[in-house]
Amino acid sequence: MWPDRRVMDLFGIALPIVQAPMAGFSSTEMAVAVSTAGGLGSLGCAAMDTVALRDTLSAASQATALPLNVNFFCHDAPPPQRENDARWLEALSPYYQEMHVPPPDLSTGLIEPFDGERCEILEEFGPAVVSFHFGLPAADLRRRLKTAGAKILSTATTVDEAVWLEDNGCDAVIAQGFEAGGHRGMFLTEDPHTQIGTMALVPQVADAIGLPVIAAGGIADGRGIAAAFALGASGVQIGTAYLFTQEATVGNIYANALRAAKNQPSALTHVFSGRPARCLANRVCRELGPMAAKPAIFPRGIKAIAGLKAASEVAGDGDFSAHYCGQSVALARATTAAKLTSDLSRDALGHLQRLGRVGA
Ligand SMILES: Cc1cc2nc3c(=O)[nH]c(=O)nc-3n(C[C@H](O)[C@H](O)[C@H](O)COP(=O)(O)O)c2cc1C
Repeated sequence: MWPDRRVMDLFGIALPIVQAPMAGFSSTEMAVAVSTAGGLGSLGCAAMDTVALRDTLSAASQATALPLNVNFFCHDAPPPQRENDARWLEALSPYYQEMHVPPPDLSTGLIEPFDGERCEILEEFGPAVVSFHFGLPAADLRRRLKTAGAKILSTATTVDEAVWLEDNGCDAVIAQGFEAGGHRGMFLTEDPHTQIGTMALVPQVADAIGLPVIAAGGIADGRGIAAAFALGASGVQIGTAYLFTQEATVGNIYANALRAAKNQPSALTHVFSGRPARCLANRVCRELGPMAAKPAIFPRGIKAIAGLKAASEVAGDGDFSAHYCGQSVALARATTAAKLTSDLSRDALGHLQRLGRVGA
């Protein structure tokens, strides 16, 4: 019934809906529920050490034999950045004083990019799909994943990035529009001001590459999915709407902020990590950004703000918490991951039928 089956055929799934990997906020239960409902569930493994990665893959493979996507970051591992670290800690120093939090050491405890050790664990478990944010890992790691049977995906935020991903062996490309919640997957450009909206990006990417295109950013209901197909996508990747499901691990402060987000703006900001990400515009985002002149270098910004986040959450507020969400947050409703997946699919097919793009 779907007008374009390329994403479904590529992954061997019944619905062209990918639940976005959301490191720290999506759960194994969410991924399994989405795959069981016929979509592609994703495990957000970017912030996991190798022990947590192995535990997660072990729990997921016991829960389902259906296809799952395992997601990582592949940012450059940062060399020492003393001058930049000192400048960013200085920018945060009034907050450290206010919250009685000691300034942290930014040289340890950082999120690690995908590497050989993680690749070895994937070779052992053999996930159906492996996706990346911020580009792709080195060619030998990509070859190893392919030999282990994985389809490889990554995010493009420009046409150039989509072409680069096709040239470098991806099996499908996620076209992430400006509306998207979370980090921009940008990797050939550092300029957030020239990032493109989903409606403009998806058809240009679909025209430029031969691979299946998965549209992401601001899609939160059946209308958005139908629009993505009309623009040339053969699948969608949805994050924010899944934050409202019972399986999301968002905690009360984040959940309340999302529910209250109706008319509140989200903003692209790098104050939470050093890389541009779309979040609700809360206190630290407004006061230091949204785009600070000289931000921390990713991922050091995450460590810089972690103690402030913890202290303010103990006090019951989210002044220093990154409440990632996309521009369609007000369309999302509380539900379960399985119901969201099947409702999205049914509503999208209804819209596509009305538009005359599928048979009855
Ligand atoms: C809370 C949150 C966390 C995210 N974390 C990741 C991640 O770990 N890896 C990734 O590839 N994308 C991540 N994303 C981006 C999504 O893959 C996707 O591009 C985005 O959610 C699509 O826009 P939407 O939120 O409007 O649906 C995240 C998005 C959100 C909202």
